[in-house]
Amino acid sequence: MTDIDARIALTGGRDFWNTHALPDADLPAMTMTDGPHGVRLQVASADHVGINESEPATCFPPAVGLASSWSPAMLAEVGAALAAECRALNVGVLLGPGMNIKRSPLCGRNFEYFAEDPLVAGELASALVNGIQSGGVGTSVKHFAANNQETDRMRRDSQVDERTLREIYLRGFAKVVRSAKPWTVMCSYNKLNGVQVSENHWLLTEVLRDEWGYDGVVVSDWGAVWNRVNALKAGLDLEMPANQGHEDAVRAALAAGEIDEATIEQAAGRVEAMVRKAMAGREGATDSFDVDAHHALARKMAEQCVVLLSNDGVLPLKPETKVAVVGEFARTPRYQGAGSSRVNPTRLDNALDAIQALVGHEVPFAPGFTTAPGQELAADAHDRAIAVAREADVVLAFLGLGESHESEGYDRETCDLPAEQLALLKELLSANPNVVVVLSNGSSVLLPFADKVRAIVEGWLLGQAGGSALADVLYGVVNPSGKITETIPRRLEDVPSFLTFPGDLTGVRYGEGLFVGYRGYDAARTEVEFPFGHGLSYTTFDYSGLAVTATDAGLDVSVTVTNTGTRAGREVVQAYVSLPSSRVERAPRELKAFADVTLEPGEAAVVQLPIPSEELAYWSVLDGAWIVEGGTYTVEVGASSRDLRLSAEVALTGNEPVRPVTLNSTLEEAFAVPGFAEAIGGMVSGIFGEDDPDLMRMMAAMPLAALVGFSGRPESEVQALLDALNAQNR
Ligand code: BGC
Repeated sequence: MTDIDARIALTGGRDFWNTHALPDADLPAMTMTDGPHGVRLQVASADHVGINESEPATCFPPAVGLASSWSPAMLAEVGAALAAECRALNVGVLLGPGMNIKRSPLCGRNFEYFAEDPLVAGELASALVNGIQSGGVGTSVKHFAANNQETDRMRRDSQVDERTLREIYLRGFAKVVRSAKPWTVMCSYNKLNGVQVSENHWLLTEVLRDEWGYDGVVVSDWGAVWNRVNALKAGLDLEMPANQGHEDAVRAALAAGEIDEATIEQAAGRVEAMVRKAMAGREGATDSFDVDAHHALARKMAEQCVVLLSNDGVLPLKPETKVAVVGEFARTPRYQGAGSSRVNPTRLDNALDAIQALVGHEVPFAPGFTTAPGQELAADAHDRAIAVAREADVVLAFLGLGESHESEGYDRETCDLPAEQLALLKELLSANPNVVVVLSNGSSVLLPFADKVRAIVEGWLLGQAGGSALADVLYGVVNPSGKITETIPRRLEDVPSFLTFPGDLTGVRYGEGLFVGYRGYDAARTEVEFPFGHGLSYTTFDYSGLAVTATDAGLDVSVTVTNTGTRAGREVVQAYVSLPSSRVERAPRELKAFADVTLEPGEAAVVQLPIPSEELAYWSVLDGAWIVEGGTYTVEVGASSRDLRLSAEVALTGNEPVRPVTLNSTLEEAFAVPGFAEAIGGMVSGIFGEDDPDLMRMMAAMPLAALVGFSGRPESEVQALLDALNAQNR
């Protein structure tokens, strides 16, 4: 192999999961694998859709579960354990986390994503990346960018206006790139505003590298490259998996002068640096990991992820409560999503066994329904479920979505639970009103029964130890503390993206703009089933003493939280910000900080919620820059986006540029600039008469150019006046 051939080879995979080895340069091959919530190392047949078995590894809760903890510290701990498993399995880069915004609950892959909000996604992804990379193993934040659905995912054009793109879909990625420096960023399959992402120079070079300062590797999603020459020129470094045809095309393009050696060398150099980092990370690696300790960590993590959506006091159960367990999910847990992220767990807890272990005896169980196509259900299964329900004090109904209901590769068509489960629940309720619903699902489902059941426990997907965590929460061994990071709507039609998801062959228009998730529900004042940030506890928390001060760096926010109940508990405290006087389109409130605090009964603590100024900025399309508007901001602090306990106002100067007044500026804009009213007021009253407020209101939106026309004064004279005043105001 010539030198340049070797460099070209490095810009593509050797096979499905490995980079090329360059023996002459003492560079071994490096393995990348999914991810993200466990290591999916395939040793026999490789595939990227989760078909073939992989080596056993701990299956931690997938992102949907992890996110509900709102705990960067716990995610960092999980990250460190993932790194240990990667080292044991000789994996250099774990392909995750996924951090796309949940634009619609229908997205088939929402279980792999964190939130409908970029702050939550960005903070949690950063924590996970830091955790993994601190163990000498690389990560791949994905799928960059605007890959918010599975329908036609390899071709569809995501059409997103620039402000929405910057503030909602790129903001989390910017945070993780800046604060955690992921070894790789994985470019997504889709097109973005007409350009295939793998060939999108604006995204991969101008934004990612020039603006955010990224110096790692851009790797393609598996099969996302259509033309490696164009991709390399756009800023991609590594095409995966291997593609000999594309490699040959680069060689031909080099010979034809269509790509220069420097572009190839730059990409190859980055890949080489990554492999060398992985080599350094492997120093001292052993070939095993502590299976028990990691299972225990998966359980501790899952305990923080469970969300108590509603509870009239029936929970926690007492060990002596006579329960019946209904629903196959209690015995056959749904604990992770389908597709490339599927992990082969080291062991698997189920809730039924865990409940029985906890109460010390067998409890009546009836599967009631099947969870996967082909599963057998006894003819009397239904009657048996009703019979056990009738005999119990409390019925624990384990409902949810099966693997085939939501998966990588396709989107859901409905937000409903399967009809047979809803029908069964109805009958259970007529047999026994004391039903507690326990859910397993990777993305929101509608809960039309919310006010008919006594409690709802949202288990999302909790990984291999989720069954034990659920039992612990039901019986109060663990006090639930998770909160939802996606709104649970009342109707699918209420979802802000409803009208334009998933688009058609001409593309998907992100028509709701900035108003994704709670931003949209709040703006339209739509009733929801459970709002973003919601989650209950077995104890109660009081909020007091909100203090907000403006500093050069942003806002210092602090609040005192007191545990006013009788159990120790963890509260996730959220700070939302709004600017009522804003002159740009905005959501009524946006999450700008969060923190958790664990308190004994009666204990109080001051919780700090610092908000850096960059979090307050909006993307000004006019200026092509992040701008903090001056004005009086409202900071609301509370337990969810719709349970805001305290609020305070704070004045901020902002950094808005003084925009020069031009002939294109309106009268209103001109009058807002010091000196202009005096200078051009005469011209205005000369045309429209003195002091007529109604007339002035009508004229406020008139550009100066039009006014000049009416005044009969030469444009050059007015332009000179504007130049002089602009110079004074600079
Ligand atoms: C997925 C990626 C994954 C890759 C490798 C793709 O289909 O979109 O998330 O990392 O396959 O399995």
